[in-house]
Amino acid sequence: MFQTKKICHKDTKAQRKYNTLLGVFVSQWRDLVAAVGLHWHKVVRPINPVTPQEMNIWILTVRSHRYHPNRRLLEAAGGLRQKASLIHPGKIHLIVNGHRLGMGGRFFKRSPDLLIPRLGATIKEYGLTAIRHFQLMGAAMMNRFEPILLASNKFLSLQTLAAAGIPVPETSYASNPSNFETALSGMGGFPIVIKIASSRQGSGVFLFDTLEKAGPILEDQLNKGHGLLMQRYIPPEGRADFRVLVGGGEILGAMSLKPKKGEFRSNIHLGASAQAVACSEEMASLALRSAGALGLDIAGVDLVQDKHKVLRVMEVNSTPGFKGLEKCTGKDIAGAIIRCAMKMKG
Ligand SMILES: Nc1ncnc2c1ncn2[C@@H]1O[C@H](COP(=O)(O)OP(=O)(O)O)[C@@H](O)[C@H]1O
Ligand SMILES: [Mg+2]
Repeated sequence: MFQTKKICHKDTKAQRKYNTLLGVFVSQWRDLVAAVGLHWHKVVRPINPVTPQEMNIWILTVRSHRYHPNRRLLEAAGGLRQKASLIHPGKIHLIVNGHRLGMGGRFFKRSPDLLIPRLGATIKEYGLTAIRHFQLMGAAMMNRFEPILLASNKFLSLQTLAAAGIPVPETSYASNPSNFETALSGMGGFPIVIKIASSRQGSGVFLFDTLEKAGPILEDQLNKGHGLLMQRYIPPEGRADFRVLVGGGEILGAMSLKPKKGEFRSNIHLGASAQAVACSEEMASLALRSAGALGLDIAGVDLVQDKHKVLRVMEVNSTPGFKGLEKCTGKDIAGAIIRCAMKMKG
């Protein structure tokens, strides 16, 4: 691709010198291109090669190596003799040109063999686009773009699960104040749990007992055309919450979660306490079917059991944290995730 035209010189010595200089120039130019990060897929030869059995894993994240999942995944990859790096989506730019996809950026030298997108709550349009870009460039993905997109919106996930015959809580999705009120009366009125479709870690889940209290969030969200999820309130006393982690079609671990005092949300980030549990057959089947319905290779499946012992899938996370799970089960969850990645790459 960097071939030079054949030029006929009478003086062969001069020609040799010319060719040598040209060769040096071409090879320096190629290194320069690679060094500044203009990295065309299938065009620039890979530099910084890894050994054949070693995979080049990219963890797409905006957080540092101090963040628990990142630190543990890097440790686990190292322990399994794989090369893993944290890549901030803001440090690369994406390129399409002609029929090729490429990328540029100062800090990387070769494209990944396998990408683990871990943007979670921080996912934005650019991050999603980057995930699809790597997928189209041929990287193995854990998870792929389409399942991440479905999981990034609570209602898209619930409708996918319900359509696959997986039980979910009765949920209405309202797009304006008037259909909010109709849906509310259809669900028996207050108290009601309201959820922002794209929220994470309990931050967009609210419990309201009057319209006045719900007013500001309704105004803010509904008037922007975002829509809101509505569910009947299941008080903590009558329910049990579980998180089941699925990886590569297997159960990697399960725990039960109890909200802290005065709180109804059982998110670890909101101080919930966790306890390891044996995954019952029903729990395992719901979790595996949910990950399968959404197409997720790795998934944190939230299950809720009501006072009648009926289990339903509350939500599915495409970027599950696993600090609480490692702590309460004593399992090497990070190692299990990297092993799943290695199996995927074959
Ligand atoms: N309908 C509900 N009734 C009672 N508690 C709920 C309900 N929905 C959610 N919760 C509590 O809030 C937590 C967070 O809700 P969830 O839908 O999982 O959103 P997030 O993505 O923020 O974790 C749940 O784990 C559960 O403890
Ligand atoms: Mg949750």
